[in-house]
Amino acid sequence: MKTFLTKFSSFRNRYYRSSTGVESQQFLLATIKKIVASNPKLGITVDEFPHPWGQNSITVKIPPAKSVKADEKIVILGAHQDSTNLLPFLPAPGADDDGSGTTTLITALSILVNASFVPSTNPVEFHFYSAEEGGLLGSAAVAQAYGAAGKKIRGFLQQDMTAYVKPGTEPTYGIINDFVDPALTDFIVKVAEEYGEIPVVQTQCGYACSDHASWSKIGAPSSFVIESSFADSSKDIHSTRDTIDAAGFSFEHIVQYTRLSIALAVELGGGDSLF
Ligand code: BES
Ligand code: ZN
Repeated sequence: MKTFLTKFSSFRNRYYRSSTGVESQQFLLATIKKIVASNPKLGITVDEFPHPWGQNSITVKIPPAKSVKADEKIVILGAHQDSTNLLPFLPAPGADDDGSGTTTLITALSILVNASFVPSTNPVEFHFYSAEEGGLLGSAAVAQAYGAAGKKIRGFLQQDMTAYVKPGTEPTYGIINDFVDPALTDFIVKVAEEYGEIPVVQTQCGYACSDHASWSKIGAPSSFVIESSFADSSKDIHSTRDTIDAAGFSFEHIVQYTRLSIALAVELGGGDSLF
């Protein structure tokens, strides 16, 4: 995790309209392809979802063992790959926002691939969105394309900011309860309580603050988990201070979100291949 995120947060920024945002996307793509190539028999596909602004979104698909296409419901784990400074084009390491969510998904994918996980019936996808900071642009394009293609969604979970534990507070999962599906969110709480090692707190953004809102907008069940209550989340995002060396930045905390991601993939994708 540290090797990946050190490099990923070392680009001047990952702004969706900058050349370094294209370079960071290519690095992310190469990292994902390497993980997937380590276990070719799983038949995992990696695709760029092209956007007109340069930095593409990336989708990774783990096909199920027994697929009846008409009954398939896709399980999606999401994070945004882009970063921004309050003043776009200025430096933006974006270690927490959202290098941490990207690291969470990369690590979960790597562990599932290493375990030869094949979802029983439902495809499991990992999405790395471009241009969240531009107004949820990448996820909106992907969600609308899935909707237009008639794809059915079992559930979507966004992970945006998973690393920061405010000094002096205990680590928690922050479960967002606005712009989400209440039933899926209740299930995420159960999964967190079963497989996680830290308590859950309910919280809100108060606005459509991340890519989960793009899925809610097309009517798909969507959920969002963040590093803490909204109030205790990092105040250093969108600045040059959002680095892995910041006080409170915790790789152990990212591990908890990785546990949650793996658990959700197995619970909703179907875990028959694991034993
Ligand atoms: N990661 C933030 C959202 C966030 C901030 C979640 C604080 C939890 C705590 C996200 O990348 C972001 O900055 N969103 C924008 C809105 C978006 C529609 C451009 C924001 O919050 O201003
Ligand atoms: Zn973010």
